[in-house]
Amino acid sequence: MLAIFYDRVLQASERAGLREDRRALLAHARGEVLEIGAGTGLNLALYPRTGVERIVVSEPDRHMARRLRGRVGGAPAPVEIVGAGGEDLPFGDASFDTVVATLLLCSVADPAIVLAEVARVLRPGGRFLFLEHVRAHDAGLARWQDRLTPLWKVVAGNCHPNRSTLATLRASPLVVIDVTEGRIPKAAPIVRPRIAGMAERPPTVEQPSTI
Ligand SMILES: C[S@@+](CC[C@H](N)C(=O)[O-])C[C@H]1O[C@@H](n2cnc3c(N)ncnc32)[C@H](O)[C@@H]1O
Repeated sequence: MLAIFYDRVLQASERAGLREDRRALLAHARGEVLEIGAGTGLNLALYPRTGVERIVVSEPDRHMARRLRGRVGGAPAPVEIVGAGGEDLPFGDASFDTVVATLLLCSVADPAIVLAEVARVLRPGGRFLFLEHVRAHDAGLARWQDRLTPLWKVVAGNCHPNRSTLATLRASPLVVIDVTEGRIPKAAPIVRPRIAGMAERPPTVEQPSTI
């Protein structure tokens, strides 16, 4: 259902600056790229024209994936679509130079598990590029985010406006090397605060114990 309205809901924000924020983030993409939860494919045409060899996109929602397929032609490199979720990526360890997630970690069931998977599939020194709306610093707005999240997640594809995603990133096996805070223009106040930046996979990543 969300897929039908998704591009229309975001249109004003994209035109008012979100699209340029996406482009600036994706300028850091290199080599073999995995984009998780690619939605309708709004990022595909914004990857840089040089330096990206192939783009694998994961999108578990078939309605989103149908729209995504329509945007594959605009990408600057070959695109492969897989239906996998970010918690269980069907790729070997150290398979990608870059992993991208935009407006994803608000929607997944467990962001920490997804970030552990991101670290696993990244090559050492590989980069995770993120752009996410997050919990507000302002206590009043954060309270509204808490109040409205139970309803919002039902109508907006499991989107949680109140997540402290930067703290989750810092607690993950990735090392945050750059982050800027800003706002998603023309977005509803509870989904306006955003972070964007880069995290790196260190040379060795602790694997969870199986004992
Ligand atoms: C808010 S949309 C963002 C779409 C796109 N990344 C963008 O920037 O416009 C969230 C997307 O994440 C997908 N998604 C939700 N849970 C997921 C999961 N566990 N793994 C991968 N993708 C997921 C949804 O199907 C949806 O397409």
